[in-house]
Formats: sequence, structure tokens, C-alpha cells
Amino acid sequence: MKARANIAEIVGRYVDLKPVGGRLVGPCPFHQETKGSFNVHPDKGFFHCFGCQASGDVIDFYCRINGLEFREGLERLAAEVGVDVGQARRDPRTAQRRQERDACLAMHELADRYFRHVLGTTAGAPAREYLGRRKVNPEMVEAFALGVSPAGWQGLADVLRSRGFAEDQGVLAGLLSAGKNGRVWDRFRDRLMFPIRDGGGRVIAFGGRTMGDGEPKYLNSAETPIYTKGQHLYGLYEARPHMAKSRRALLTEGYLDVITLHQFGYGDACGVLGTALTPEQAKRLSGFASRVDLVFDGDPPGRKAALRAAQMFLSLGDGCRVVPLPDGEDVDSLLHAAGREGFDACLERAEDGLAFCLRVVRETYAPKEIAAWAVEFLTGLGDAALQSVFIPRVSSGLGLAERELRQSLGEAAQRGRRQPAAVAARPRPQSLDIAPRDAELLAFAIRRADYRAALAEAGAAAALAGEGAREFFAKLVGDAADDPAARLDTAQAAFWAKALLEPVENDDQAAAVFDGICRFLRDAREDVRRRALTEAIRRAQAQGAYEEVLRLLGELQALSGRGDE
Ligand code: UTP
Ligand code: MN
Repeated sequence: MKARANIAEIVGRYVDLKPVGGRLVGPCPFHQETKGSFNVHPDKGFFHCFGCQASGDVIDFYCRINGLEFREGLERLAAEVGVDVGQARRDPRTAQRRQERDACLAMHELADRYFRHVLGTTAGAPAREYLGRRKVNPEMVEAFALGVSPAGWQGLADVLRSRGFAEDQGVLAGLLSAGKNGRVWDRFRDRLMFPIRDGGGRVIAFGGRTMGDGEPKYLNSAETPIYTKGQHLYGLYEARPHMAKSRRALLTEGYLDVITLHQFGYGDACGVLGTALTPEQAKRLSGFASRVDLVFDGDPPGRKAALRAAQMFLSLGDGCRVVPLPDGEDVDSLLHAAGREGFDACLERAEDGLAFCLRVVRETYAPKEIAAWAVEFLTGLGDAALQSVFIPRVSSGLGLAERELRQSLGEAAQRGRRQPAAVAARPRPQSLDIAPRDAELLAFAIRRADYRAALAEAGAAAALAGEGAREFFAKLVGDAADDPAARLDTAQAAFWAKALLEPVENDDQAAAVFDGICRFLRDAREDVRRRALTEAIRRAQAQGAYEEVLRLLGELQALSGRGDE
């Protein structure tokens, strides 16, 4: 079994790491810097930045870089590297899901290469012309890996077949032909293709634009085992290094808007994907940038979308501004018409996010709706400190009496006591305090379920040093040991998942590890016995019971003799 995902591999997907001594060093993705303050210690499994003091293990890194809460990050990371939190490792469903994901990724990688290839061929001429008309420069075509899916489309099927992807293979067959929405790849026929990447830069979906007046103008991939709608942002992978420097994100609504922003030097731009911004996307972006500038259409639907988006970023405690665009223009058309100067002028007129929300609500809502919006907005704020900052501004901005607003908030809090706020941050669960040796034994028991009974028999439970470790071990070997993961608390689940992120011992290694543990357990038992004997000898000697002393000495010798075997 090969390694699943150690910290070096995961971090390496986001940071350009160079080995220095036993560590890996690179520029910190969490603050702006030119030198490498960011250190990864693969053997100890943690990272640390000397510049901004960010530190933690692989799960902390993954959550932070993807803007995810702990539990969600844990589950995603586990899924990404092919383990399933809360499922026993040998569960065949896990292996099957893993296989489906791998097949799907391979499929997308291949499709991506194919679409790019076609763009350079005769069949790609209309697309090249179209890109020229839209003034997309070659660097952007390259950076965003644009391609084209040809009109006559037999090509991909042939390519896939020649690479060993037969059409009758599970998911692949689904992706290639049938599927709920008809022929999944076929729908992209004769479209310009925009690959959508995950945090690690792998293509997981596509957007496709007609180059004529076909309908709809843009098509997005349907959901697959590797792509869930509302989870990803277009261009985020490409924008991430720029955001790390600027600490700002430009968020827009269109594929081409993102690309044109990058082309004009706004590398920190990314976009939603044909849907309204979701809380997951907001959180993800929030992990990279503490300021978000929203560049949405100025028409009523665009304003409504901007209101919702601004509200989300404000609740996450991020700075947020709304950038006004001239009537009838989008960023793409504005930049090509007026250049950076034109867009910078808009940026200068950007409205503070809260002020924007208050203005739009004041201008477009009925009085009853205004009060309801205020309560909804304020109760949705992640923490109390944020609320106390916003209450006076919201009440004065909307013309509501602060006292009455506070009263409504109190009532709402009582009504909704058991419904946590939509984007509220959950605290990170306490990590388990487990001694290193106990941790080693537990991790082995987690990875090699087949050794659990033998470990119990060898007396592992009694030899564990910590109470927490013993409790954990009891769950692993307890009566309902068929699915122990289901009984773990969050901290234990985290430990479980982390153990599975390490390479699984093969049979020879497992036998050796088990041997080592048995030897340790025997030594530990003998150590206890030896100390008891020594103590008894000391007592017997003090009492002058010399026969007893001799007998005990004999026992001690026998014990030591065995220990020398
Ligand atoms: P627009 O219609 O404003 O298009 O849709 P656009 O981004 O300016 O695209 P160009 O300049 O005409 O090429 C904005 C965004 O809404 C989504 C896409 O993400 C698009 O970029 N959209 C739009 C769809 O998903 N489907 C559609 O049919 C239209
Ligand atoms: Mn446009």
C-alpha cells in the first residue's frame, strides 16, 4: 500500500517547497513574503511559519488553505486522499469510491489535454478566432488551459479508448455516454472549454461557452464524484498565489471576466460558477483573503447577488467592498474599453460592504422587511464581538431604534436557540492528549484492523500509559468492533483520520510492528514485575525474612534470564 498523503505532499500542492536539511522550506501561503519562512517537518508532521506564526498539522493546513472548518476539512482531505473518515479502512465501498474518483480525475485530465490539443489543430480554428475577437491573449489561454471541444466529437471517445478507458467501465461509461443528463461530454460539443480546478490544480469539471448563438451561452459540468456544485470557484487555483500577496480577492460572476482581470494584472480575481455565491465558496475564499472586492453586475439581479455575497463575507468577519461598474458594462468589456485606468477608477469608488447592504436594503425593501433583514443579518454573524460592532451601524443605517433592535435580537436568539447561524464558525475540537508511544500503538491498531484482537490479547490495553488512550483502544476492540469509527468522538475521529493518512504497513511490516509491540508489552510487564520483586525483596530483607529473600531473588533471576533470551 502506498503512502496516502503526508504533510509534505499535501502542502507541496500549494507551496513551492525546497528541501533544507531534514525540513522543507518555501514562501508562506498565509502571509506576504519574499523569503521562505514557511517550514514543513515531514517526520514530525507539522508546519510552522516564522513570519506569521501559522502552524499546525496537515489537517490544520488543509482547512486554512481551503477556508474550511475543521470537521469539513478533515472529511474533504480524507476524501481527497482516498480515505473515509468514519469508515473502516477495509470497507469495500471506500475502495470503490476511491476508484471512481481516481477514474474520474484521470478522465478529466485526459479530456483537458485533448481539448487543449484540439485548440491547436485545424478543428480549433474557429475557437482561436473567437478568442482573438474576445482579445484573450496567448498567456491567458495557457494559464487557464483553455481548449475546445470539437463539433464532431468522435475524437474523445477514440482517445479514451486508446488509453484503455473502455466505454463499459463504470463511471467512465457514465461520463462518456449515458448519465442522467444525457451524454455528459456530448453536451459540450462545439464549445470553448474552461477547465475548473480543485485546490491542488487538478481539473475536476468544465465550463463550456458557445462560440455562436447557441443556447445556453454557458454550460457547466454536472455533478460527479469529484465535483460538487457550489464548492469551487473559477480561477481560485490560479489566483491563490496572488491573493497570498495582496491579501485581497476580486470576486466576479463570469468566466471571461476572471480571465480578463488576470490579463490586465489583477491576478487575485476569481469567479462564482453560474450560481449565486454559496456559504462554502465564501468560506473557502475567506481562507485566502481577508478583504473581498465584489465586482457584480449593476442590474437588480446583480445587486441582489452582491447583497447576499457581501452579507456572507461580513458574517465571516472579512472586509468587503462592492465595486460599481458603469451601466451595461461588465469587467471584461470595461477593461478592454478603458484599461486598468478605467477599472481602477471603479475600484476607487468602491462602496464599503456594510454601507452597500444598508443602502440596498433601505432603497429596495419594505419597512417590515428592513427590520427582518437587520435581525437576520445580525443573528447570522459568526460571533458576539462582530454583532456588537455591527448593531449600532445597522440600526443607524436603517433608521431603526437600537434598543428595539436589540430586543428583537434577544427574541430571535431565544426562538432560534437550537439553530446555529448559517456561517457561524465552529470551534476546533480539542485534540487528544496521547503519549507518543500510545499514539503509535493506536495508529497501528487503526490502520491494521486485523491486528486489533491480537493486540488486545497481548495486553495492549493495560500497557497504554494514558487514560484517554485506553478509552480509545477500548472502542477499537469493544463488543461492537465491527464499526468502531461510528463511536468515536470528534477528536478521536481526527486521530483516526490522521492515522489513516500515514502509509499503511504491508503484511511484513505489520508483523514486525506487532512483534515490536509484543516485545515492548512483555518488557513493560516484566519491568512491573521486576520492580514489585525488588520492592518485596527490600521489605523481606528489612524484616529479616532471609528465606523469603532468597526465594524472591530466585524469581528475579529467572525473570532477568528470560529477558536476556
Ligand atoms: P453573462 O451572461 O454575464 O456572461 O454571465 P459573461 O460572463 O459576460 O460572458 P461573455 O462575456 O458573454 O462570454 C455571467 C456568468 O454567468 C454564468 C457564467 O458563469 C457566466 O460567466 N452563466 C451565464 C451560465 O452559467 N450560463 C449561462 O447561460 C449564462
Ligand atoms: Mn461578458
